[in-house]
Amino acid sequence: MKPSIAHIGIAVPDVESALAFYRDVLGVAARGPEIADGARIVHLDFGDSDVELLEPLEADSPIGRFLARRGPGIHHVCYRVADLDAALAACRQQGYTLIDDLPRSGAGGCRIAFVHPKATNGILIELTEAPK
Ligand code: CO
Repeated sequence: MKPSIAHIGIAVPDVESALAFYRDVLGVAARGPEIADGARIVHLDFGDSDVELLEPLEADSPIGRFLARRGPGIHHVCYRVADLDAALAACRQQGYTLIDDLPRSGAGGCRIAFVHPKATNGILIELTEAPK
């Protein structure tokens, strides 16, 4: 299996108003919202990849702090890999700092782990093995 883009996470102050563009202009189907990592998440179906709109439920949460610091925008990119444990082992071996040392349960209950953006040109990278 080739790695692919699972989803792009976009930090927004208000999911309902952000959703309007995708739903009413592009006609994209939305799933959710669901709650994960202190955020309200709406999944937008773009085929093999999703866009996730992430609204913080509280200021002191990863998305809340990101919005306060940088404003709305792309928060992270999630890549789908065949073997998450192998990808994390390769990160460790090659000196990439992991935010999650061990896979944990992310949105939708799939196994995920984040790689620190310092090591990846400022992009917060999430890795998952979630099937589409
Ligand atoms: Co994500």
